[in-house]
Amino acid sequence: MCGIVGFTGNHQAAPILLDGLSKLEYRGYDSAGLAVRDGEHLAQVVKAKGRLSNLSEKTDSGKALKGNCGIGHTRWATHGEPSQINAHPHVSGNCERSGSGTVESEVVGVHNGIIENYISLKKKLESKGFEFISETDTEVIAHLFEYYYKGDIMDTMIKVINRVEGSYALGVLCVDYPDQFIAVRKASPMIVGLGDEENFIASDVTAILKHTRDIYYLEDNEIVVLKKDSVKVYNTDKEEVKKEKFTVDWDVSAAEKGGYEHFMMKEIHEQPKAVSDTLNSVVKDGAIDLSEVGLSEEEIKEISQIYIVACGSAYHVGMAAQYVIEDLTRIPVRVELASEFRYRNPILDPEGLVVIVSQSGETADSLAALREAKQRGIRTLGIVNVVGSSIAREADNVFYTLAGPEISVATTKAYSTQLIASYALAVQFGKVREQITEEKYQELIAELKTLPDKITKIIEDDKERIQWFAAKQANARDAFFIGRGIDYAISMEGSLKMKEISYIHSEAYAAGELKHGTISLIEDGILVVGVATQAALFEKTISNMVEVKSRGAYL
Ligand code: M6R
Repeated sequence: MCGIVGFTGNHQAAPILLDGLSKLEYRGYDSAGLAVRDGEHLAQVVKAKGRLSNLSEKTDSGKALKGNCGIGHTRWATHGEPSQINAHPHVSGNCERSGSGTVESEVVGVHNGIIENYISLKKKLESKGFEFISETDTEVIAHLFEYYYKGDIMDTMIKVINRVEGSYALGVLCVDYPDQFIAVRKASPMIVGLGDEENFIASDVTAILKHTRDIYYLEDNEIVVLKKDSVKVYNTDKEEVKKEKFTVDWDVSAAEKGGYEHFMMKEIHEQPKAVSDTLNSVVKDGAIDLSEVGLSEEEIKEISQIYIVACGSAYHVGMAAQYVIEDLTRIPVRVELASEFRYRNPILDPEGLVVIVSQSGETADSLAALREAKQRGIRTLGIVNVVGSSIAREADNVFYTLAGPEISVATTKAYSTQLIASYALAVQFGKVREQITEEKYQELIAELKTLPDKITKIIEDDKERIQWFAAKQANARDAFFIGRGIDYAISMEGSLKMKEISYIHSEAYAAGELKHGTISLIEDGILVVGVATQAALFEKTISNMVEVKSRGAYL
């Protein structure tokens, strides 16, 4: 999960870039690099494998790299091992390499995303005499830029993006433009930060929040040219695009750890507030009001089918929502991984509703799925956390989860609020479609409102028990999460969290399915987490738990 920061202004760029990159460290990376220009010389590029502190040391906290315009990158290896050579920025054109590893170069680029046709482009460029030194897909961008460059930075960028396939957020410094840089994005997030006599790009707003809260969101293939006193955005016909300015309404402290050792821990503790804020945004005077989401009662009544499309944890929300929505509304629900949906030519009912669930609102597969649905003329609803993100902008309707910024890569509070949003939709759809009585409706809303306190109680009261249990099981090698119905959906998320955070292999199973083969893996000491919260399924699940216990599982 790479990070990009770019700066042009009156201050020395490198310390600002290092600071911005440090705000993106939480996304994970294996190497980092900077390129800075001082107005006279070529861009100076410094890279280091490993922690950002290595890069900081190499550049004397950025002080050694003189210049007020530059770009920085943290890399998470996808093509080629983590190494200094493979780290970004990548260079092309006339380069001078010094013994210390510093490079001066005419064209310098950083990139997030994946260039899918990089092998064919590399072959072409090699046949034209370009020499590649890294194993990355990104290096083709620097060389392609150099190949097409005839003095006009815009023309060149347009040619480059016409040739590359895949996803990209790109920042490029070019020899004849000493105090400015050019950037573009497609299916990979990038925002523009607007300051006073200084401007920025970043792959995530947290990187520049210290300097400005005024931002532009770039649409796919919008090209931005940044100088310290101007930001101009163009389409691929070189026409200037008028952008709407967004003001980020959360402050820097929301993106700090606030005394917690990890963002994830902080965000787990923020769940009660996040859930309560999300609920309060739609529950008004004892009823669920979807007017801000933009769904009228007539429209709700006409929905023939719901397709929930998402990735990862957001997909697990869809799995849980499926049980609840079908139960309360009797509308058939289908849940799909966005990475499958977008490529499989799905059959969609024209009266259906495609619900895209996404914290970031930028996940490439989810965004592509949304576009696929829109292209087929199906109404789309985004359940999104990041205001102004691509999915939020492009969906026909948006239900904003109010989780606030989620910095931890492992989602917690956003996941909880996505569940709340789905439940609120289910309850309201059920009421409008006369599948639940007024009494049941009130009971469900009252129950939803008890959730923030219940979450607080679990987090606070059970802290020591959870810690005791985690310490006892920290050496587990395999874990299974089992449940039925909605408990199965919740198990899927538990299992993903286990893998993602502890690196312990884990699987989620519908409890009744275990006996069809997988139970052979249950042996002495294997950790099995049984989830049994559904009264109607309780005994069935308990009998599955007994089965695994009798095979030696630690339940
Ligand atoms: O931003 P999104 O909700 O679209 O992200 C989707 C998944 O990548 C995400 O839920 C991922 O699985 C979680 N970060 C895992 O904790």
